[in-house]
Amino acid sequence: MKERVAKLLNEQINKEFYSAYLYLSFANYFIEQGLNGFANWYQVQAQEERDHAFLITQYLQNNDVKVVYEAIAKPDASWADNLEVLKAGLAHEQYVTASIHNIYDAASEEKDYRTLQFLDWFVQEQGEEEKNAIDLIRKMELFGGDAKGLYLLDQELAARTYAPPSLVL
Ligand code: FEO
Repeated sequence: MKERVAKLLNEQINKEFYSAYLYLSFANYFIEQGLNGFANWYQVQAQEERDHAFLITQYLQNNDVKVVYEAIAKPDASWADNLEVLKAGLAHEQYVTASIHNIYDAASEEKDYRTLQFLDWFVQEQGEEEKNAIDLIRKMELFGGDAKGLYLLDQELAARTYAPPSLVL
């Protein structure tokens, strides 16, 4: 694997672990608000992000590339209200999507077909994650304004369960 692609994938591992850390911070925020369903939703999301980091780790190792785990940055935690947290989640996913696309561009330029195939799963996953984030914002805007609506939405999000990634390396 070309060093340029390996370096970007190594950096992506850190971004995925940061994502997990950020979503756990969201979960902590919601627990402090008494919204345990929202907290559950982000705890499950954090597990998925950790899986993404593991998948890239394993992919690099399968290709005999040395993996380096760098320090994980402290997540920003200054949200004015519930909706702002959800919007920060969407903005973060858009950032991650751009980052994945950037690796895709590099792999494409280097004619690294194996990495392109590996990244296809991540491109699709990002599409799903952005959609989930948008749906959540919509629901919050529609129903989150009154106590009963917020309660029901919290109940709905409490039902999310963790499932391991569909990508097997
Ligand atoms: Fe692993 Fe939500 O990006």
